[in-house]
Amino acid sequence: MPQGDDRVTRQYQIGDLWQKIEAGLEAAGKDINSLTVDDLAPIDEFHTRGRAATSELAAMAQLKPSDLVLDVGCGLGGTARYLAAHYQSRVTGIDLTEAYISAGTKLTDFAGLGDRVELLCCSALDLPYEGEWFDIVLTQHVQMNIADKHRFYTEIARVLKPGGRFIFHDVFSTGGAPPLYPVPWADDASVSALVTEAQARTAIEAVGLQVAQWIGKVQESVKFFERVIARIEAKGHPPLGIHLILGDNAEDKIRNHARNLSQNRLSVVVGSARKQ
Ligand SMILES: C[S@@+](CC[C@H](N)C(=O)[O-])C[C@H]1O[C@@H](n2cnc3c(N)ncnc32)[C@H](O)[C@@H]1O
Repeated sequence: MPQGDDRVTRQYQIGDLWQKIEAGLEAAGKDINSLTVDDLAPIDEFHTRGRAATSELAAMAQLKPSDLVLDVGCGLGGTARYLAAHYQSRVTGIDLTEAYISAGTKLTDFAGLGDRVELLCCSALDLPYEGEWFDIVLTQHVQMNIADKHRFYTEIARVLKPGGRFIFHDVFSTGGAPPLYPVPWADDASVSALVTEAQARTAIEAVGLQVAQWIGKVQESVKFFERVIARIEAKGHPPLGIHLILGDNAEDKIRNHARNLSQNRLSVVVGSARKQ
């Protein structure tokens, strides 16, 4: 078990994760022995706007099959599998939550992507690489759990090759009214380390990453949640979905995230930066 923030580990650790995923796949009529990344999309995207956001990040990264890619805080590894399947990239995902890495490795093998995707359990604050190794480092919805932003971005910059790119999709505080909890990454404020967009941008640039794109995604995210909530109200949760990993208070987390965005408490950004 890597050194990490116990509060974060407790936040994401849920019992019987693999059994829940297997049952969800079966209820959704998926054959576990011939899974595709599209079959897994409902559970693979633990961030605002689901697969649409991942495909935007992939387009931003302009990936080539020869690229070595690192996904920091990969969760179940959905983004890694998507990039490997669609761009033939070799992708490593790292995450602090052991249960995600273990379940994610099984999903990768069942999807036949074990030759291109590797998932490792370790901390984003102590990446197990000696030096400038990756062409692309990306991250989605992870830094909100990490108080030490300087160390987080320092580690990312350290493992990027010169000229390599950092691609991110993140949630920030607006500096206005505080967020309502629970949210998908935190049951309460003690496990949430939100900063404003300006603070994050300063932290990114302080480690030698030059911001190239900074694109607000609040409108699209609010619309996304309107659709998700309307679907839950009409039909309940689908057999396979993020609620399986959000736990008993899944609906409160989803509704609060939506409220935080529509009430201008939080913002969402996709962006890129280049290592000098
Ligand atoms: C909201 S989930 C996002 C997962 C994934 N990026 C996605 O979009 O599907 C946040 C993830 O960040 C991971 N995480 C939080 N702090 C971390 C740290 N210090 N090192 C590595 N992973 C961390 C959690 O374990 C969790 O899997």
